[in-house]
Amino acid sequence: MLGGRRILLIIGGGIAAYKALELIRRLRERGAAVVPVLTRAGAEFVTPLSVSALAGEKVYQQLFDLTAEAEMGHIQLSRAADLVVVAPATADLMAKMAGGHADDLASTLLMATDKRVLIAPAMNVRMWEHPATQRNSATLRSDGVLFVGPNAGDMACGEHGPGRMAEPAEIITAVEAALGSGAAQGPLAGRHVIVTSGPTHEPIDPVRYIANRSSGRQGAAIAASLRDLGARVTFVTGPAEMPPPEGVAVAHVQTAREMLAAVETALPADAVICAAAVADWHVTNGAAQKMKKDRGGPPVLKFAENPDILAQISQPGPQRPALVVGFAAETENVAENATTKRARKGCDWIVANDVSAGTGIMGGAENAVTLITDAGAEAWPRMVKPEVARRLAERIAQALA
Ligand code: C5P
Repeated sequence: MLGGRRILLIIGGGIAAYKALELIRRLRERGAAVVPVLTRAGAEFVTPLSVSALAGEKVYQQLFDLTAEAEMGHIQLSRAADLVVVAPATADLMAKMAGGHADDLASTLLMATDKRVLIAPAMNVRMWEHPATQRNSATLRSDGVLFVGPNAGDMACGEHGPGRMAEPAEIITAVEAALGSGAAQGPLAGRHVIVTSGPTHEPIDPVRYIANRSSGRQGAAIAASLRDLGARVTFVTGPAEMPPPEGVAVAHVQTAREMLAAVETALPADAVICAAAVADWHVTNGAAQKMKKDRGGPPVLKFAENPDILAQISQPGPQRPALVVGFAAETENVAENATTKRARKGCDWIVANDVSAGTGIMGGAENAVTLITDAGAEAWPRMVKPEVARRLAERIAQALA
């Protein structure tokens, strides 16, 4: 809950601005006061009237608004808040922030604030992937700016990929985490951990996909345990049965390629835990329209290999996290196969489990794991997944200490 918290919400100019209206409503439902700032471009997408009606506050738009300056100058405005949220954060706003510009109200507030800033980027996929935006994003992260999203998916412009603004519920979770994390306690306080979780969906046509039985239970439990030890957690999840835990930043993805992009966006991190059951293949000859059975016999699908997220993150380099943990779902010779996998992937630890028929582990409530580290294999007794998560999070905290 956000009772008594004051959020300065800067609404940039993008089609996702309409989601800012929902965000205001939800922030207020949780007890927060929302002071809205609308950029000139933002006002092309949502009206000042709807913003101020939902916020129940005056909407600030102009830097040189004399009454506003008399009532409250931009310095005070930026500091009276507990958190500054930019949603949507456009490519232009991010560039201004990274460059330290202060030529309108929004950019001036962002320069003048002494509070944490959380941004929800939203833009066309090419704009997001443009080297300039990626450079700005890296600069902002190293300046301590918090990110939520962008998510991958279909975009208003008709393209597909990362660039969609995070959903209001995800932004709320990130707001709660940002406001809570100032006081984060525990052995992982100040650490950033990325957890991948759930299955991936690899589309065949607009209504069909290839998936697996992963429920996302183990990944969600690990994210929650890391959060409980004080970590700032980015939870990158495929379409799982389990809702993401509270108090973590969530990136929703569908495919393996989107998952890799989301993990790379979330770097740098102190640790990455790859608990997702990532599809090994994606369909290369999928159809743009629903496949019909009366079109000359059954379709023949062609496949290409998906990127191996775990192996890619484990590669040596400046962004290599201190600890990379992979999972190995095996149906025989668990410890042996997992040890080989650890070497092949280049990760530090492997959490191996036996998912052969009859164990009930995949999609089930319990897990029996063997932890493979450079010290060898350690078989843990069978226990419920949250307990496996708790013990694993403690080991991670010890390793990062
Ligand atoms: O290769 P295999 O699927 O058995 O390896 C499992 C481990 O690798 C898990 O940690 C899983 O999250 C990760 N993985 C990945 N990207 C893939 C395939 C697996 O990150 N494309």
